[in-house]
Amino acid sequence: MKEYFKAERVSENVWWVGAIDWNVRNFHGYETSRGTSYNAFLIIDEKITLVDTAKACFVDELLARIASVIDPSKIDIIVSNHSEPDHSGALPALIAATQPEKVVASVAGVKTLRAYFGEDLAIDAVKTGDTLSLGKGTLSFVDTKMLHWPDSMVSYYDRDKVLFSQDALGMHLASSELWADQIDPSILDYEARKYFANILNFQAPKVISLLDSLPGLGLDISIIAPDHGPLWRKDLETIIGIYRSAAEQKPKRKALVAYSTMWGATARCANALADGLRSQGVSVVVTDLYVSHRSAIMTEVSDAGIIAFGAPTMNNQMYPAMADVLTYIKGLKPKNKIGFAFGAYGWSGEGAKHIAAELDAMGVQQPIEVRQVKYMPTSEDLEAFFNCGVELAKALG
Ligand code: FEO
Repeated sequence: MKEYFKAERVSENVWWVGAIDWNVRNFHGYETSRGTSYNAFLIIDEKITLVDTAKACFVDELLARIASVIDPSKIDIIVSNHSEPDHSGALPALIAATQPEKVVASVAGVKTLRAYFGEDLAIDAVKTGDTLSLGKGTLSFVDTKMLHWPDSMVSYYDRDKVLFSQDALGMHLASSELWADQIDPSILDYEARKYFANILNFQAPKVISLLDSLPGLGLDISIIAPDHGPLWRKDLETIIGIYRSAAEQKPKRKALVAYSTMWGATARCANALADGLRSQGVSVVVTDLYVSHRSAIMTEVSDAGIIAFGAPTMNNQMYPAMADVLTYIKGLKPKNKIGFAFGAYGWSGEGAKHIAAELDAMGVQQPIEVRQVKYMPTSEDLEAFFNCGVELAKALG
């Protein structure tokens, strides 16, 4: 028997048969600095069941891991909890290879999967409260619309008390370890918060609703098995707590000062502003947008009480890097922020005003007027930026 591409045991009757994508760095605009995994699970019951698949390019790896436990042709049921292609790309090939008697997804999942793979895809819809007997155990389904896509749902296998939570409660983290309790907690905390900020923040109220509803669903959960990152068998409250705290978006006494700069003027203003904030005991992160990826910036935005963005004017516009970041952040709908727009200009000075308009469109309160300097800040200008930091800190309270 070959030793590579083997399954890993999750519980008595559940196996991990997914793929680790060590080198992916661009996940639809999110910089996955530590790679990711596409977790798929094989349930060995009277009805052999596969829960989720992976990106299409990993199909051979999935089939090999399944084959290390059971002949793939013995799979009776495939469950698609989420139809985004990182979990469904390999589905058509898996169906062709295993010829299951049944494939199920949510109502929206059926529509999405048929849109991807053809209207003749044989697939049945399940909804919240529906169950599927696998013989000794039962799978039940809960619709989690918009976590992450309209089709998303989670499944629960009562025999081993495993919650297959798809994107929810996951993180982008490739690791040789299957379990969260084998990984540095600070890495888990950062990557889970980064994942939430960049994937789910726009649906934060729905995440709170889901977490609130879990006890009422009567699911006795021993293992949380998301589709990305490590699985949880201990301290389940840790990942639930990270998600809840991220979803609540309570602002910390923290500021993000993010800028782009042409000849250094905006950078000098940013640093004077940061010193004013620091003088009031605010924890500050300062970054040039050409140094930090938009997804790292969004991670800092997620728990900052103050978000300050600065850019010079170029060709009557803000710098393109700033437009990129603000467009991205706006779509993720951050809440409970105080904002500040600033910059430098030589001729016309639209850049910082455009930033202020974007912050306004996000519903970010701006207690201080836009501030810009012409060409280079004078010592008086830098003093004024320091004082803006002091004022913003006071406005944060
Ligand atoms: Fe991991 Fe929304 O897909």
